[in-house]
Amino acid sequence: MFEYEVMTAQHYDDAVTLWEETVGTGPNDRKDEIMKYLERNGSMSYVCIEGTTGKVVGTVLGGTDGRHGYLYHLAVNIAFRHKGIGRTLVNLSTGAMKKEGIHRCVAGVKDGNDDFWKKIGWEKPGRLNIYSVVLQKQ
Ligand SMILES: CC(C)(COP(=O)(O)OP(=O)(O)OC[C@H]1O[C@@H](n2cnc3c(N)ncnc32)[C@H](O)[C@@H]1OP(=O)(O)O)[C@@H](O)C(=O)NCCC(=O)NCCS
Repeated sequence: MFEYEVMTAQHYDDAVTLWEETVGTGPNDRKDEIMKYLERNGSMSYVCIEGTTGKVVGTVLGGTDGRHGYLYHLAVNIAFRHKGIGRTLVNLSTGAMKKEGIHRCVAGVKDGNDDFWKKIGWEKPGRLNIYSVVLQKQ
């Protein structure tokens, strides 16, 4: 019923629709930005496709700086939640990271999702707070 594929340009339009409905989008989500990200990070980003419609119902963007793995835009269409899609997407992405020799993966987590991450075995390191800065305007 569900198929999982490495994310490519052909999934982009569906993925953006899903993100707009779930995690929201920003300037880094333009098609050229996402294609650059996918090229740079090989097969660490995945989509879940619903078999009867062929629509993308889940996504995860995975990447690495060569030391840590990072996950972004984990999102599952609300109609298909609690079916193991989120967990499977995370496992596919982190599995690809393991093959590249990455030992640790980090995700910025939106409020209200702590229980999901705990259920799939992730922990919140008490010492870690994430700060960010805009390096240049887009
Ligand atoms: C978070 C999200 C990706 C989970 O996707 P999902 O496909 O429903 O998750 P799974 O079915 O793989 O769930 C794995 C486990 O977590 C549990 N779980 C999932 N969402 C949960 C929630 N909101 N609260 C508590 N438990 C949750 C599931 O019941 C399941 O538990 P089980 O192993 O005992 O069956 C999905 O709710 C989502 O897209 N949310 C909106 C987008 C978003 O906020 N993304 C950012 C994530 S930081």
